[in-house]
Amino acid sequence: MGFNTKQIHAGVEPDKETGAILTPIYQSTTYVQESVDEYLAKGYSYSRTGNPTVRPLEKKLTILEGGADTTCFSTGMAAIHAVLLATLNAGDHAVVSDVAYGGTYRICTKIFSRFGVEFTFADSARVEDVEAALKPNTKLVLTETPANPTLKLTDLQAVSEICKARGILHATDNTFLTPYYQRPLELGCDLSVHSTTKYIDGHNATVGGAVVAATAELDEQVRFIQHSTGTILSPQVAWLTLQGCKTLSVRMDRQSANAMAIAEFLESHPKVDRVCYPGLASFPQHELAKRQASGFGAMVWFEVHGGVTAGKQIMDSVELWTLAENLGSMESLVTHPVTMTHAAVEPAERKRVGITDGLVRLSVGMEDVEDLIDDLRRALDRL
Ligand SMILES: Cc1ncc(COP(=O)(O)O)c(C=O)c1O
Repeated sequence: MGFNTKQIHAGVEPDKETGAILTPIYQSTTYVQESVDEYLAKGYSYSRTGNPTVRPLEKKLTILEGGADTTCFSTGMAAIHAVLLATLNAGDHAVVSDVAYGGTYRICTKIFSRFGVEFTFADSARVEDVEAALKPNTKLVLTETPANPTLKLTDLQAVSEICKARGILHATDNTFLTPYYQRPLELGCDLSVHSTTKYIDGHNATVGGAVVAATAELDEQVRFIQHSTGTILSPQVAWLTLQGCKTLSVRMDRQSANAMAIAEFLESHPKVDRVCYPGLASFPQHELAKRQASGFGAMVWFEVHGGVTAGKQIMDSVELWTLAENLGSMESLVTHPVTMTHAAVEPAERKRVGITDGLVRLSVGMEDVEDLIDDLRRALDRL
């Protein structure tokens, strides 16, 4: 079946008792057992370890990504935390993309490093840099592509091959493209991680996360962390996310088409210094973007003449665009990574990886693109 069919029907079925077409919200802490001998015959005992509204979402994501199984988490960061806990022990080393989301950088440097795990942040856009960073005790390579907010790409197949040859696990954060545009497990990755908060929900309504595993054994390791740390997704959020999933492809196609038009507009505007969008021929890794994914996504960034002051002026003067931190939803959002999403990254590190003070990040939504462009044009003209 095609993706559009799967995003609607995979993993869910009408309620057996009532015929309700939507999976019910099972708001229950515990589940009554038939007998001690048949304990767990229904598969559920307690909602920290499994919930019948969460499970269909896990099944749907598994089918969409082409994995063995999926574990859903309370947030994207809980999902990343579980990947690190499931794969690393004290004394191990991990290579992490130097342009990963600020929260990923923070959990590595401020939390896991306290427990004897060593990290190297490597430019994962350069496969040779990832290879050079590997050590005898490297157990995990964690990439993110396209990265937030630089949009730098990692060649997932090439990095996976290096990892496989050395028995190292490769996990990648697939939040920006979702399984609709990019399926990392088909490219050799072992784990595909999501903040479902973004495109998978798509309505600015929830926070959630997911880890899709290539093997049942890996899923078991990740699920064990979820049970043990108590980071399962709540049933109401799973229900909302199940509804959001059904329109994933339609939203992503429209948002990406809008993003392309906006990137082209910005590139032609005299007050704009630089525009970055994987769909532009000027994007340094445009060929990789075309090869590795079936769409370019809906994240764009740009810099205007006048650096941080002018960038802030744009963000304060747009009217239809909303100044907010999230991304991936129907509403178009504008963000200043240096003061908002990536404030946790040290200034020198930000500079080194290209998160400049004047960088304006756009999460392009589903409005009429002419309205979005008119609003940006007005803000640029005011500079
Ligand atoms: C690429 C990426 N991964 C992970 C996260 C963390 O997800 P959450 O905010 O759902 O914890 C984010 C959040 O912005 C993100 O952009």
